[in-house]
Amino acid sequence: MATYQIKLARSDTDAARHFTLELDSRMTVLDALFIIQREHDPSLSFRCSCRVGMCGTCAMRINWMPRLACQTRVETLNADAITIEPLAQLPVAKDLIVDLGPFFEKWKRVRPALHPKDKDSKQLAIVPPDSEFGRQAQVKRDCITCGACYSVCGITGSNSEYLGPAAINRAMLRLLDPRDGNVDDRLAVLNDETGVWRCHTQFNCVAACPKGINLTDSIMKMKRSLLFPKKFHDKQAAT
Ligand code: SF4
Ligand code: FES
Repeated sequence: MATYQIKLARSDTDAARHFTLELDSRMTVLDALFIIQREHDPSLSFRCSCRVGMCGTCAMRINWMPRLACQTRVETLNADAITIEPLAQLPVAKDLIVDLGPFFEKWKRVRPALHPKDKDSKQLAIVPPDSEFGRQAQVKRDCITCGACYSVCGITGSNSEYLGPAAINRAMLRLLDPRDGNVDDRLAVLNDETGVWRCHTQFNCVAACPKGINLTDSIMKMKRSLLFPKKFHDKQAAT
C-alpha cells in the first residue's frame, strides 16, 4: 500500500477537490474513483462499463494525458500525486463525463458502417489476412471509440469541424475493404476542407491511443491516396 494525493476536477466548481487515499500499487485509477465515490463523495460522476479496456467509456485525462482509467494502474504513473480531469476539447456533461457528441458526429460523417457492394450476395466474403485490407485491418481495426485521440489533437482544438484521427482511420478501413462499395461519399468527406488536409502531423493522437493505433500513418496514407482516388474503386492498395 502507498499514499496517493488525488486531485479531481469537478464540474460544479472551478476548484479541484483533493483526497488522500491508501492504494495498493496494483489498483487502477478507476478503483480509486470508486473508493472516492463510495467513501468520500457519492455525488462524483464518472463513466465506465467493461473495466477491461474494451468499451472506451472510461477515457479521461490522468496526469495530463488521456488514458483509460480502468487500464491505468496507479504505480505506473510513477507519482504520488494524481490529477484526474475530463477529456479536453469535448463538452463536460458532469465531473469526469464528457459529451462525445462532437466526436461521433465526425464518425458518422465518414459512413462508418459496411455498405456492401453486392447486397443480395449469399456468398461468404472472405478477407485473406495477407491481402492489403487484411494487413491494414490487423493493426488499425481495434478502435474502441474512446475519443482520446480527438481530445488531444491540436487541430480539433482550433477547428471544431475537423474530422479527427479516429474517423479518418475508420474511413480508410472501409475504403480498403473489398466488400464495401461506398467509395465516393467517403472520399468526398476526406477530401473536404475539414478532412485529411487539416492534419499537421503532430502525432499527439498516436501517443494518446490506448489501442496503439498509428493514426498519423492512416492520415498520411489517405493524403497520398487521394491523389489517385481510382485505386479505391479498383480496391487497390493505399500507398
Ligand atoms: S483511435 Fe484510439 S484513441 Fe482514437 S478513439 Fe479509437 S481507440 Fe480511442
Ligand atoms: S471501462 Fe471499458 S475501457 Fe475502461
